[in-house]
Amino acid sequence: MTTSLLQNHQLRWPANWAEVFGREAPLIIEIGFGSGHFLVDLAQKRPSTNVIGVEISLPSLEKAQRKVQNLGLQNVRLLQSDARYLLQALCQPESISEVYINFPDPWPKAKQLHRRLINVDFLHLLATRMVPSGLLDVATDHADYALAITDALESTPYFRSRLTTTFVTEDTERLRTKYEQIGLDEGRICHYYKFVRCDTAVPQSYPIPKEFPMPHAVLQSPLSLDEIEVRYGRWQHSHHACHINFMELYRARDEDVLFVEAYIKEAPVAQRLGLVIRQRQPGNYVINLHELGFPRATRGVQLAIGQLATWLLSLHPQTEILHHNLLPESWTQETA
Ligand SMILES: C[S@@+](CC[C@H](N)C(=O)[O-])C[C@H]1O[C@@H](n2cnc3c(N)ncnc32)[C@H](O)[C@@H]1O
Repeated sequence: MTTSLLQNHQLRWPANWAEVFGREAPLIIEIGFGSGHFLVDLAQKRPSTNVIGVEISLPSLEKAQRKVQNLGLQNVRLLQSDARYLLQALCQPESISEVYINFPDPWPKAKQLHRRLINVDFLHLLATRMVPSGLLDVATDHADYALAITDALESTPYFRSRLTTTFVTEDTERLRTKYEQIGLDEGRICHYYKFVRCDTAVPQSYPIPKEFPMPHAVLQSPLSLDEIEVRYGRWQHSHHACHINFMELYRARDEDVLFVEAYIKEAPVAQRLGLVIRQRQPGNYVINLHELGFPRATRGVQLAIGQLATWLLSLHPQTEILHHNLLPESWTQETA
């Protein structure tokens, strides 16, 4: 039997969902499925659709995977990811037929508000990926988040309500989710939103991220690997919405290799990966990406290798670049 749990690194940008599911069918996504009851019910009731459940919590994914397996469901796949990554990197424009977001985390404190999933920007991203007339159902039991969701849905030009009002506070038709039941038991009012993607054209402001050929830079330097190692210190670099944090440096035990741990954030992708400075012969160094953890060779990785090479150049005036395959912007001096 096919496994329902998707391996992120095996999915192309965008993913070929027909190939993943083994058939063409309308695509439905549930974001933050939690216990997985609603997701499994959806997949059972709608056998002619391809259903993707996306979650960041591993225990939730494992529980849902067991349910899917026990029921032998073939039309559901589970992905551990931030929903924004699934939508922007893995889904083609106008490819999703239905989206369900049940009781998204409310992030109630003022300093956490930016973490909320649903806002006008998120609805814009969603609109780029949904088919015209695609359905969007949202529910929340959090009064303040409900105000924000109402505001976002009423101000977006890309969705309109399928109801005569923006929301209703009762919906007996749907299967209750775990958090819905908790909210009701604790006396909270639930808000249910049933929207549809309108025909309004949407600017394609959320491009699918690009992968580049494996980046490298080759340098010549009078410095030894030991001298390079002792000069290293953590630093950060930012360039056009890409943030790079150069973290620890490690020395391989029996090899002429330095391994720099880096965190690269370039929405919707965030990667923690290893950059390598390898001495091929005395004074000849190649900087490239370590394959550990299946990193993607993004623009941010190009920038990171360019910055590491720039740092090496700054250590000694006789250091020079012999060749590289990096984008011109990788050599920028602008820092965070
Ligand atoms: C409050 S729970 C609701 C669970 C379930 N939908 C329910 O109604 O019982 C919110 C869920 O969304 C998941 N989640 C939060 N942010 C997410 C994101 N950006 N992408 C995917 N899942 C997310 C959390 O891990 C959590 O399981």
